[in-house]
Amino acid sequence: MREFKIYFDEILDRKGLTNTEIELLNKAEEISKKAYAPYSKFNVGASVLLEDGSYVCGNNQENASFPCGICAERVALFATKANNPHLKIKKIAITTESDRFNIESPIAPCGMCRQVLLEYEEQQKEPIEVFLFNDAKVLKFKQAKDLLPLHFSEDRLKRK
Ligand code: THU
Repeated sequence: MREFKIYFDEILDRKGLTNTEIELLNKAEEISKKAYAPYSKFNVGASVLLEDGSYVCGNNQENASFPCGICAERVALFATKANNPHLKIKKIAITTESDRFNIESPIAPCGMCRQVLLEYEEQQKEPIEVFLFNDAKVLKFKQAKDLLPLHFSEDRLKRK
C-alpha cells in the first residue's frame, strides 16, 4: 500500500498572517462580492499576488448556457498570465460568499482549477502558496502541488 500525505497549516487567527497576506485575503473577499453567479448564487473570489507586489483578482462568471461559465480561480489565473506572462506568482487566496449557502469550511478548488494552477507552478519552478479561507479559518498550503497528487503534467506530452 502506498500513500500520499498532504501537509497544510490551519490558521484560526488572521493575526498569524503577514500584512501582505491579509491584503491578499481582503482582495479575494472584495472580488467575490462582484461575482456574476445568478444561477448558483455561489460567489467565489480569487486573488493572486505576483513577484512585483501587484495583485490580479477574479471571480466566477456564469451563463444561461451553464457550461460556458468559469471558476473564479481560472478567471484570476488566466488574467494574470495574459497580462503578466513573465512574472512569477507568489500566492493565491480563494474564498466564497453566499446568502444561500452556509460556508462552514473554506472552499476547495475544483480539479480543473488545481490543474491550471499547478501548471503555472511547474512552469515557474517556484512554489505558489495557496490560501483557502472563510470567516472562521485559513488553510495554508505551501505549494499548489499539494492540492493535486498524481497530476497530469506537461512532460507526459514529450514525444519518443
Ligand atoms: N466555483 C468557483 O468559482 N470555484 C471553485 O473552486 C468551485 C466552484 C464556481 C463555479 C460556479 O459558478 C459556482 O461556483 C458553483 O459551482
